[in-house]
Amino acid sequence: MSFFPSHIDVPEDPILGLVSRFRADGRVKKCDLGIGVYKDVDGRTPVFAAVKEAERRLLRMQETKTYTGLQGNSDYTVAVCDLVFGADYMPETLASAQVPGGSFALSLASMMVSKIAPAAVIWTSTPGWSSYEPLLLRDQLAKRDYTYAITPDGKLDVALLLRSLDAAQPGDIVVLQANCHNPTGIDPSPQDWAKISDYLHTRALVPLIDFAYQGLSDHPDADAYAVRRIFKKNSEAFVAVTNSKNFGLYRERTGCLYVQASAPETAKLLQGLMNDILRRYHAMPPDHGASVVAQVLGDSQLRVDWLTELEAVRRRLEVPRIRLADRVAAVGIPALANAVRAGRGMFTRLPLDANAITRLREDHSIYLTGDGRINLCGLTDENFDRVTGPLLAAAITAAAKREPVASHVY
Ligand SMILES: Cc1ncc(COP(=O)(O)O)c(C=O)c1O
Repeated sequence: MSFFPSHIDVPEDPILGLVSRFRADGRVKKCDLGIGVYKDVDGRTPVFAAVKEAERRLLRMQETKTYTGLQGNSDYTVAVCDLVFGADYMPETLASAQVPGGSFALSLASMMVSKIAPAAVIWTSTPGWSSYEPLLLRDQLAKRDYTYAITPDGKLDVALLLRSLDAAQPGDIVVLQANCHNPTGIDPSPQDWAKISDYLHTRALVPLIDFAYQGLSDHPDADAYAVRRIFKKNSEAFVAVTNSKNFGLYRERTGCLYVQASAPETAKLLQGLMNDILRRYHAMPPDHGASVVAQVLGDSQLRVDWLTELEAVRRRLEVPRIRLADRVAAVGIPALANAVRAGRGMFTRLPLDANAITRLREDHSIYLTGDGRINLCGLTDENFDRVTGPLLAAAITAAAKREPVASHVY
């Protein structure tokens, strides 16, 4: 008798599953609008020049590859702390660790919550990033949704968002994306962030900020607005940070988690809990990406070079966004055109049903995630007309099926 079963029932990851299907598709004119990876106008995901230079320096200067420690590379966590919080934070009230990517930072936060408050509910946005389901401990903590609806003029309906959190209980966790909302691209305005952080404070709800796109909607300082506003008002908060996107370090698994407590003694306790969890998982994270980021942020010239490259990334992302918004407006769906145009970062979303998304994939080799999210970088000069034709035909059909007075785009 075999120890291993002949079948194990595990769900397919909605994003990584799509990548495998795309790779297996033999059609030449296929188009990947699925996975959240930056691509330049030629469809490549290049290494940042500042990263390459930091790697060359590391190769020359690194003298040892001995273990770092449970919390990883402290040059990195301190440099990223400055990038995230600016000058205005109290290190003694923070627990922190370098971890393998933003995904693990989110999981680590939820593992801490399940130890501290197993009855807490984790609230995530609908629509939201599909990976929250597996990352935020589906099996151990309860998860509920709050509403992330977009008005016909392309703004977040913040009043509806807050109303949908009214059922939350003190001590529940609210996951918020700081910028470049995945999948809609629409972020709260600074006034909305003030309302959200005041509401969380008054209701004793604990923010867990997912900060995956610092520098992809605006200068990194401007993009840190939500984190800084919330950490100032809400003395107990988490922020999960990744450098996958803003340094192009995807496969190097470079991220960190910061947890703010209201007093230094509590921060020490949280650091102990964090270290205990990390010991059981990977003991310490891979160092390469963290050393690269620490090099870039610690060297004034490399930092300027990196900021310049990030600005070019932002400019590149705006081009297909505006082109697509113009096209959507031209086919007569103005509310959707506003939502596409007002978004920031890599994503926008077409309100398509599962059947339309399957047809796009099977009939036209256009790959979207199941929620209608589009990675705008997948639209190039070469494929723009070929791909937007079927996409917009599907969007027109979807718009015709909607209530004529629908008050939200989605
Ligand atoms: C909203 C959001 N959060 C977190 C992450 C985590 O990124 P990674 O685990 O690659 O660092 C991503 C990646 O796509 C994301 O889109």
